[in-house]
Amino acid sequence: MADLSINFAGIKSPNPFWLASAPPTDKEYNVRRAFEAGWGGVVWKTLGLDPSVVNVNGPRYGAIYGADRRLLGLNNIELITDRPLETNLQEIKSVKRDYPDRAVVVSLMVPCEEWAWKQILPLVEETGADGVELNFGCPHGMSERGMGAAVGQVPEYIEMVTRWVKQNTRMPCIVKLTPNITDVRLPAEAAHRGGADAVSLINTINSITSVNLDLFAPEPTIDGKGAHGGYCGPAVKPIALNMVAEIGRNPETANLPISGIGGITTWRDAAEFIALGAGSVQVCTAAMTYGFKIVDEMISGLSQWMDEKGHESIDAITGRAIPNCSDWKHLNLNYVAKAKIDQDLCISCGRCFAACEDTSHQAISMSEDRTFEVIDEECVACNLCVNVCPIEDCITMEEMAAGTTDPRTGKVVEEEFADWTTHPNNPAAVAAE
Ligand SMILES: Cc1cc2nc3c(=O)[nH]c(=O)nc-3n(C[C@H](O)[C@H](O)[C@H](O)COP(=O)(O)O)c2cc1C
Repeated sequence: MADLSINFAGIKSPNPFWLASAPPTDKEYNVRRAFEAGWGGVVWKTLGLDPSVVNVNGPRYGAIYGADRRLLGLNNIELITDRPLETNLQEIKSVKRDYPDRAVVVSLMVPCEEWAWKQILPLVEETGADGVELNFGCPHGMSERGMGAAVGQVPEYIEMVTRWVKQNTRMPCIVKLTPNITDVRLPAEAAHRGGADAVSLINTINSITSVNLDLFAPEPTIDGKGAHGGYCGPAVKPIALNMVAEIGRNPETANLPISGIGGITTWRDAAEFIALGAGSVQVCTAAMTYGFKIVDEMISGLSQWMDEKGHESIDAITGRAIPNCSDWKHLNLNYVAKAKIDQDLCISCGRCFAACEDTSHQAISMSEDRTFEVIDEECVACNLCVNVCPIEDCITMEEMAAGTTDPRTGKVVEEEFADWTTHPNNPAAVAAE
């Protein structure tokens, strides 16, 4: 049986599935139920020192839906916890006492001054919590007060605050990064320099999900006005995966543990983050959409897949996709594929034809009886037909064997690997010869 247990930056957990800092981890009642459901750990909803934090008493979420009204993206304008610090600390202590095998990490956001960290860290340490996560990511509200993303967007601040934290606590320190930045490697490097034990990402992305056209105001609308919020859920997963991979691939941070966050809904999503370098994963929107029990499918799906493939531990798969995560210039330009339509599966909707004919390479023909066929002489295997086809596996990409002739170019498909760095069309490569 695959072993799902992890030791993430010194924090032990029976499985890699943690609930991210957010409403699901805002109070003892939730966290106890989450642990009963099987979650391996939680990052407690962000605590601060300011007792005046108050949330809006109106809609704080906006959403983007798929055609079946499945929630694809969630936007929120919620701040850090507005429950008293003392209440949270007592609850954390009580939960940790009763669930010693689970990871309890406490998210923190206090002013960017050392006295504030010196004040809050001993209080957290006293609860017996396993570690702290520094919330340098919240993109709304708190950033207007010089915290959250306002710190996370300045690598020098990240380094300075991380150093303060490491000097003032023995607990492992995870730095949570904002995606609202051009190059995520820089804040990760800064966290590493400051002594962080790990980074976690992504926090939410600046967003306006919709505009109310009667009020002419962004939604969610509070008494006629709206503010940008933070976007999360399945829609942000591709952005998060890339950012995790960027940090995993960067030699400066190659050994820095990563907790992957962003749109994780199924075991497969989690496995993808792990393959790109995550040693643990965190979930928020999926739990808010479907409830705590989704962790059942995550645990059983991941262990079943690991058993089938012979992967013995999470460590054994962490970062396994990194060596294959390449720059464009290292892709094999001698590789040739062609689209193939399975006529038994085709429902003759014509989406592939419309897409290819109007916007791509005119490589799909339509007969009078609406039979669609690929024209190999035109197909560049761009994959658009696969992407727009509503039937899974109806259109596939078939690799052409070396030695066969590509009817589009008239050239024999070569076995050798040739990337851009050695390609004859690359003037730099030719000059170097
Ligand atoms: C309503 C809401 C409140 C959140 N509050 C916090 C917070 O207090 N601290 C924090 O670090 N992240 C907070 N987040 C961000 C999540 O922890 C997580 O990084 C983000 O939602 C991406 O994960 P997901 O796609 O699984 O939701 C919040 C997210 C939501 C939706």
